[in-house]
Amino acid sequence: MDTTDQGKRDGFSSKFGIIAAAAGSAIGLGNIWRFPYVVGESGGGAFLLVYLGFVLVLGIPVMLSEFVIGRKTKSNAYGAFKKLAPRTAWPVVGIMGIVAAFVILAFYSTIAGWTLHYVYLSLTNAFQGKGTTDLTYIFEQFQVSGGLPLMWQLIFIVLTAIIILSGVKDGIEKYSKILMPFLLLLLIALSIRSVTLPNSFEGISFLFKPDFSKIDAGVILNALGQAFFSLSIGMGALITYSSYFPKDTNLSTTAFEVSIADVIIAILAGIAIFPAMFSLGMQPEEGGPGLIFMVLPNVFQQIPGGYFVSLAFFILLAIAALTSSISIMEVVVAFLVEEFKMKRRQGTVITAVAAAFIGVFCTLSWSTFEGVTFAGKNIFDTLDFAASNILLPLGGLLIVLFVGWYMKSVEVKEELSNSGALKIRLFSAFLFIIRFIAPVAIAIIFLNGIGFIK
Ligand code: TRP
Repeated sequence: MDTTDQGKRDGFSSKFGIIAAAAGSAIGLGNIWRFPYVVGESGGGAFLLVYLGFVLVLGIPVMLSEFVIGRKTKSNAYGAFKKLAPRTAWPVVGIMGIVAAFVILAFYSTIAGWTLHYVYLSLTNAFQGKGTTDLTYIFEQFQVSGGLPLMWQLIFIVLTAIIILSGVKDGIEKYSKILMPFLLLLLIALSIRSVTLPNSFEGISFLFKPDFSKIDAGVILNALGQAFFSLSIGMGALITYSSYFPKDTNLSTTAFEVSIADVIIAILAGIAIFPAMFSLGMQPEEGGPGLIFMVLPNVFQQIPGGYFVSLAFFILLAIAALTSSISIMEVVVAFLVEEFKMKRRQGTVITAVAAAFIGVFCTLSWSTFEGVTFAGKNIFDTLDFAASNILLPLGGLLIVLFVGWYMKSVEVKEELSNSGALKIRLFSAFLFIIRFIAPVAIAIIFLNGIGFIK
């Protein structure tokens, strides 16, 4: 198998491997760490509804558009646009994706590092007998401690690089397909415990009962950003992954199945968090990025065998984060290998070092660089906002415009139907969405959300 240089391209081997790899990219910290705290800050049920609408109407079409571009060209995110639209400005979309990949990698590895530390804390039984105050204290002390979170972040980046180096088939596929079902089972168990805690009902109604007075332009942009982030769309990660798909993959069902799985995991994370939070007397908007790290150790202690549940949960979460971060790093590595004829090893090392460099500033956002803020946001929040709410929606907008207007619709149909082998229903609906609905909706939400139009 070719993993070291740019000769023959590597690929995924089985149908299940493809879904597992794409779902492995989508399902990660975005669902389990980010979704609950963004829901908490954005007012609950109404946000959830808007988010689900965006996944269905905008997310799935963008994902499908990425699949069309990637599998047709069998190229990295930049090379794909260069092949389909030579001597135009379109490859800039690929460059934006590379930039977004660095930004996301930087702050993603901060949280993944926290997760690794919580594996360690679980192992040493550090939560035993601790209540909310102590658990909050443990988290906050760790968050501001500087060196320790940095160490875990670097370990995570090195782990990501190691998997990237072992190549597509052996690396990505093997890890994702065995472990994700276990994460699902654990989340179900946690959800059941959470909803059976005293006074948990308020949490359920917070999550599922929409209160539309909580919705404004900023919240709507947050929902769009969360949908894009969680589905791994808008920066070419799925262009890159689908470039490894074989000819006979059914792109439409893959996009559909991956999106549904992603949504289910996010909602389960919500059910595991909010009832427990209300039961503990915490306010939903209180948690911030530390939310799951403060709340879940409480829930673990209320479960028989909580020691093992806690350990297993954080290990699986770290692995889910890994299968996502490799899809982010792969965007840059595939670009360097294919466009600059680098060896895979060289491209990976360069990417990892650069990501770690930016990452340091994210991790130290609550300590050394606490005073550095942009419009009231620290470095971490700024990069998260810039990637999720600006770069991804902009990337998604350009991707649907490209597939909808630049590519010929026969070409798109050819790719979606595997050259006529598959019957595709709803093609004209898809075309209508990517030509009109998605571009207009994304543009309006984006301009409104950043306060450009009022
Ligand atoms: N979707 C992943 C998560 O939910 C994160 C991720 C992986 C991502 N690849 C991406 C986000 C590409 C945006 C773009 O954790």
